[in-house]
Amino acid sequence: MQFDIAVLLGDGVGPEVATEAVKVLESVSKKFGHGFQYHHGLVGGAAIDAHGVALTEETLKMCRSCDAVLLGAVGGPKWDDPKAKVRPEDGLLILRKELGLFANLRPIKVLPMLVNSTSLKPDVIREVDMMVVRELTGGLYFGKPKKRWRTSGVRWAVDTMAYSEEEIERIMKVGFEIALTRSKKLTSVDKANVLESSRLWRQVATEVASGYPDVELEHMLVDACSMRLIQRPAQFDVLVTENTFGDILTDEASMLAGSMGMLPSASLADIPKGGASKAFGLYEPIHGSAPSRAGHNMANPIATILSAAMMLRYSFNLTAEARAVERAVIAVLEEGHRTYDIMEEGKTRVGTNDMGRLIAEKITR
Ligand code: IPM
Ligand code: MG
Repeated sequence: MQFDIAVLLGDGVGPEVATEAVKVLESVSKKFGHGFQYHHGLVGGAAIDAHGVALTEETLKMCRSCDAVLLGAVGGPKWDDPKAKVRPEDGLLILRKELGLFANLRPIKVLPMLVNSTSLKPDVIREVDMMVVRELTGGLYFGKPKKRWRTSGVRWAVDTMAYSEEEIERIMKVGFEIALTRSKKLTSVDKANVLESSRLWRQVATEVASGYPDVELEHMLVDACSMRLIQRPAQFDVLVTENTFGDILTDEASMLAGSMGMLPSASLADIPKGGASKAFGLYEPIHGSAPSRAGHNMANPIATILSAAMMLRYSFNLTAEARAVERAVIAVLEEGHRTYDIMEEGKTRVGTNDMGRLIAEKITR
């Protein structure tokens, strides 16, 4: 089958890790006889340097004309001035909003051969396998008013957490559809003891649940959830939460897997059914641009490679191909290859290129 993929390499280690993901996609295309066409564009600091904006209209249009977007990472100290008019992150936020990518899927799975590379006890993290579904185009990130001003010489700022019932309903449906393909348990995370938006969230979650009688719904307050995530993480299966809570909880949860360098993400414009879909989506690692690692052939490309696997599954409906990538990652890790972030005594340290090449070769072999 033919697919058009927008490739936005971004900043820092973004180009290095995304290049490895393309290498792996090329292996998939060879092995399974697909044709992937890549269309390159700039995003983040790279776009600011070239055009003065974090994403140009043309790049946005190019992304719209593709079947999916693969993104490396954005940001870096060069563009970090708090007074700057444009920020690399704007590129990402524009893409999410303009492309309607409301559903962010962040799977967190602890691989048995990596249980010792985290700071938590192996017994706590063994068996961890959860999917965090984060609402991505609402809440504090986008709510209006959002501004800074001065009243009688005093500086003020406001951000707004607003949600409509439609926004809550569609993200809940994503969570329930995914829960149906897993162990049929869903935790809706909110702050309903304090926030009005969370009280609506909880109400809508309960309403949507009535359409999914086979899935067990539990509500959990976000502060308690952050505690449970490190106390007994294996209790979770599917978590659904709003934008900011999801941002914070997924960084926390990423530590269960040992390294941010292992964790992929998908941002979808539609509700996946049956664990796969042909939804338009953007795929990126959950880690950032790691400027200090950039250019050293060090960064772990696995998060981006697994994001490409999610692209195969959620945008191209190619489940067998997605599994082939995931199996290749596991096989290469089982052989003892490790990038610096997951390195352990007795293993073989490899750089970004080699990790990508080994995984790509496993697929075609
Ligand atoms: C993430 C990142 C982004 C976010 C930043 C880069 C805007 O932290 O994808 O989790 O806050 O959503
Ligand atoms: Mg984040």
